[in-house]
Amino acid sequence: MGVQSARREEEIVHHLHLVEGGIAGFVPAHSRVLTPTECEELAAQVVRDGLWDGVELTPTESQTRAYALLYEDERMEMWLLSWLPNHSTGFHDHGESNVGFCVAQGTLVEQQLRFAGAPGATTMAVGDTRAAGSDYIHCLEWETGTPALSVHVYSPPLAVVGQYRYDESGTLRRARQAGRDELTKD
Ligand SMILES: [Fe+2]
Repeated sequence: MGVQSARREEEIVHHLHLVEGGIAGFVPAHSRVLTPTECEELAAQVVRDGLWDGVELTPTESQTRAYALLYEDERMEMWLLSWLPNHSTGFHDHGESNVGFCVAQGTLVEQQLRFAGAPGATTMAVGDTRAAGSDYIHCLEWETGTPALSVHVYSPPLAVVGQYRYDESGTLRRARQAGRDELTKD
């Protein structure tokens, strides 16, 4: 290993320690599952304090998105997700988990399903947040930024998600999948 890469590795390790220490300081002290509002406030705090900045992102196997686990304990997990053109989660729910998220860089579009109408779409810019319970169904897509980045908190940790897709007959179906499997539009 060269001197430069050793130094870079030291920097990364040092930075991750800072991130971990910083985030742990904001996590609610109780031992319960976090409410949607607590998830939202925590994601917003991490974005406000730049605790995501410089974190190394791991590409997914399909190279469609990249992610980093920023923090986890028995009650919750926190992810930094990256978004590029054409990246979309498709419509999904979060199983039994409460959710809070905050845009850290660029803009995302959030869509929500409506009966007998086109999905509603809202642009979310840096600092915009959502708080949601297990009844929430949405789709997140890249809009601007290279990449766009967002911080997501799930409590309890995301064990299962439901991905919504049409089957061959045009009927809407919910596919149950593991929380750490990548969500995709198609
Ligand atoms: Fe989601």
